[in-house]
Amino acid sequence: MEGAAKSLCQSPGCSMQVSRIMRPDDANIAGNVHGGTILKMIEEAGVIISTRHCNRQNEERCVAVLARVERTDFLSPMSIGEVAHVSAEITYTSKHSVEVQVNVMAENILTGVKRLTNRATLWYVALSMENVNKVVEVPHIQYGSPEDQEEGRKRYEAQKLDRIETKQRSEDIILPAINVDRQRKEPYTVGYSQSSLIHLVGPSDCALHNFVQGGVTMKLMDEVAGIVAARHCKTNIVTASVDAINFHQKIEKGSVITVSGRMTFTSNRSMEIEVFVDVDHVLGRPKEKASAVTAFFTYVSLDKEGKALPIPMLKTQTEDEKRRFEEGKTRYLNTKAKRMAGAQKDQ
Ligand code: COA
Repeated sequence: MEGAAKSLCQSPGCSMQVSRIMRPDDANIAGNVHGGTILKMIEEAGVIISTRHCNRQNEERCVAVLARVERTDFLSPMSIGEVAHVSAEITYTSKHSVEVQVNVMAENILTGVKRLTNRATLWYVALSMENVNKVVEVPHIQYGSPEDQEEGRKRYEAQKLDRIETKQRSEDIILPAINVDRQRKEPYTVGYSQSSLIHLVGPSDCALHNFVQGGVTMKLMDEVAGIVAARHCKTNIVTASVDAINFHQKIEKGSVITVSGRMTFTSNRSMEIEVFVDVDHVLGRPKEKASAVTAFFTYVSLDKEGKALPIPMLKTQTEDEKRRFEEGKTRYLNTKAKRMAGAQKDQ
């Protein structure tokens, strides 16, 4: 796989690449490729490779669904007219889940110059096509070495632990912010930039079954987070990173999803936005409205030369907003420390 040190999996069909030219309808308002479009391409590559793998030995036809995306950094913006090369590799399998690592390279096809723009790790779970509530066993892969397998097992155990911790703290919800009278709100407050999108899940959001593709949801989440960021700083904004996201619930065709975002924290030059996805099952039997996904997105604002601009500080008003700001600050300091440690290791 391009950009990866070596192939971790020795089984056939463990890696693949898809390429696509970036068109104007892939752009955000600043003219770069929308972060959500990149997340969607990453997820599509993951779903193809893991569904293929899960059907390789299984008698029972199954489809891989996105269960989790690890923290993802956007390393460099991609431009319209560049070609995105999305390489996916299966790097670990547990009894019921598949780890896929994806690299995205942007190629300027006039000069042939390529650069790495994204690296992501996704976890898929195989569901039976006959009964989408049935989790199917995953065929094991052949590892390059026992060390590769052991490293994979450690990543699997770490994400399982993180899942339990995040489930425990995801009790909070964001009330949808529709028809907010921003004239009456004080700029730079949480309420001023808080935003929501309402979306009816249609056939184009689903692929192999009647449930939403994870990439579609991530694109909507990124769109809301981008609106919140732009409303706060009123300048050109880009996605810098997305924290780990767990997909606990399938979202059925015909459901109405409300995607809401609110700003939780600002540093000197970055903003953290919390995004919630609520599902309302409109058709069929009435079911409870439920929270399907939550995640933190980090945005930065860039000037014309691509330099990060200062961000106006978030004005917190309530005790909850102050608490969330402090929690955001802790996440910011932790990831910054990890990034610095990683950079020192690479030197
Ligand atoms: N991240 C990674 N792996 C996960 C996971 C998550 N968030 N949730 C479950 N798993 C793995 C488990 O580790 C287990 O594998 P293992 O036995 O090898 O350890 C396997 O999934 C089954 O776990 P189980 O507890 O039996 O399943 P579940 O009832 O929690 O269902 C899903 C798991 C993923 C099928 C379920 O949460 C779901 O349907 N989520 C929505 C998927 C989807 O529609 N994605 C797109 C949304 S927009």
